Amino acid sequence: MCGIVGYAGPKPAAPLLLNGLAKLEYRGYDSAGLALLTGNHHLNIIKKAGKIGNLIAAVKAAKVPASITSGIGHTRWATHGQPTDQNAHPHMDCSGRVAVVHNGIVENYQHLKKQLQDKGHQFRSQTDSEVLAHLIEEQLKKHPWKEAVRRSLAQIQGTYSVVAVYEGEPHTLIGARSGGGALVVGWGKGETLLASDVPALLAHTRRVSYLDDNEMAVVTPTGPSFLNVLTGKPVVKKVSEIEWTAEQAEKGGYPHFMLKEIMEQPRALEDTFTSRLDPRTGSVVLEGKFWDSPFIGKFKKITLLAMGTSYYAALVGKFLLEKYLRIPVDVENASEFRYRNPILGKDTLAIVITQSGETVDTLVALREAKAKGARIATICNVMGSSATREAEGVLITRAGPEIGVASTKAFTTQLGAFWLLTLFLAGKRKTMPVSELKKKAKELSRLPQLMAGLLKQRKSLEKIAHEYAHYFNFLYIGRGIHYPIALEGALKLKEISYIHAEGYPGGEMKHGPIALIDSKMPVVAIAPKSSAVYEKMLNNMEEVKARQGRLIALVEKGDKLAAAKADAVIEIPSVSEDLSPILSVVPLQVLAYEIAKKKGREIDQPRNLAKSVTVE
Ligand code: G6P
Repeated sequence: MCGIVGYAGPKPAAPLLLNGLAKLEYRGYDSAGLALLTGNHHLNIIKKAGKIGNLIAAVKAAKVPASITSGIGHTRWATHGQPTDQNAHPHMDCSGRVAVVHNGIVENYQHLKKQLQDKGHQFRSQTDSEVLAHLIEEQLKKHPWKEAVRRSLAQIQGTYSVVAVYEGEPHTLIGARSGGGALVVGWGKGETLLASDVPALLAHTRRVSYLDDNEMAVVTPTGPSFLNVLTGKPVVKKVSEIEWTAEQAEKGGYPHFMLKEIMEQPRALEDTFTSRLDPRTGSVVLEGKFWDSPFIGKFKKITLLAMGTSYYAALVGKFLLEKYLRIPVDVENASEFRYRNPILGKDTLAIVITQSGETVDTLVALREAKAKGARIATICNVMGSSATREAEGVLITRAGPEIGVASTKAFTTQLGAFWLLTLFLAGKRKTMPVSELKKKAKELSRLPQLMAGLLKQRKSLEKIAHEYAHYFNFLYIGRGIHYPIALEGALKLKEISYIHAEGYPGGEMKHGPIALIDSKMPVVAIAPKSSAVYEKMLNNMEEVKARQGRLIALVEKGDKLAAAKADAVIEIPSVSEDLSPILSVVPLQVLAYEIAKKKGREIDQPRNLAKSVTVE
């Protein structure tokens, strides 16, 4: 959702900001804009509904001089007001001397807008964000730039990240963050940047500071300084080095990021295991003191909190943790969690699973669990993100930057991380014999290679995709640990192809979904032979066939019995049941990708979706 880039330095700002915004396109947006401080210090706002291409054309037409070296850029994902030119950010005050870009929601904007209108302020947009520009205008009557922004921010309720510029101080950008929505400051050489997300900074610097709640960054070409929004007191921030490279956030010759990220999965999984998993001894090492604290041997309950694909990874995680630790595990949709007074306390380990570490529902759930006394850990892909800063225990998935909105390598590395966690905890708490730990660790370490083999099947999946792309509905069925994979397979398809698809436990079929089955309903049945409920899945497949449903069966290589029932067959290598979700999801990702491609969809940025959902 919404992306922010800001620049203060010696380089021409317009192309740099446009490049930065292009790196944030994956977050999802429907309009984009720039505020540039022109040579004579007038603010020049250029903004357009639609894709960044429209903005690039408008910037070109405006003949922005290269002498303009500071400014801010924004991609907007509409919440308040339609995605029009007028509602696009940046927003200005009445005088046209202040401009702001904003991610998040100003919850008390109606009240503030009314107050400002009563004072004579004229609003040009329907957005909540515009109030901030007018608040700053008011404060500038009494206070200098920095203090005016600080006082204005203190009046705002809600979650936000913002950056503001003022023509009176053209080389001093001010950024701030509260609640949700990340803001990262990039320390360049003779230049300083601000961005909502790391990929926008990678071409310039890998030295960053992450703003925490209620912190403000005052950014000039010579560097940033930080202060607390509420107290005005200076804050000293840590500078971290980002491990990701600029190349990792490029398509690298692939037509889509999603395909690149699907193909990267063997490497990503291997990296996630490297230096942690020892197949010879069955032992697992996790980084950070938390994992060695006495609590790890004592907690009595686990609560998993997540959204979207990460939630489905958590459903798989529950199977593993309960099976091998014999500890009760709740999996909660994070957006529902805090509204129902959940039961957890000092003996609970709450784990938030989040690729981005910035999903606001997940962060709110994390804080709720913390407030109730639970200890917090996270399985996260972005070091330095809010989730990693707010959790005590951090298990980083080493998927590298995931740009495609539909999550793929983040999911399989999350499953890998759940395995690491399970073996680690089982080793600590002695709930698995060493022989079993060794066996599992060995099998796990073979998965990246098996996955690489599996990815060679792309051609046959493309063929199936072409045969099935014209259907309007799909069902995905799975049982046991494969049920979350049915959910994830259906989610991938609906996200990027816009075909209606639902996942069900095989056993649920007879309780409703079977009424939908006829010759126009493809059913993807996940039926590896290793499953304890394999026979039952075969029965479900028969039921589909008996009603002329089109059956696509995902089976173990060489399983002729299951394959014979199907109209189309997808094969995966034989591995033990608990491990097979890491493999079985891969062809379902490819299938969704190939169907979406056949239908000519915008695969990396599907309509209405955002990579990182930063509003509730
Ligand atoms: C959005 C993305 C999904 C993702 C979900 C949770 O909806 O489009 O792909 O699974 O957010 O994101 P997280 O970063 O918390 O894993």
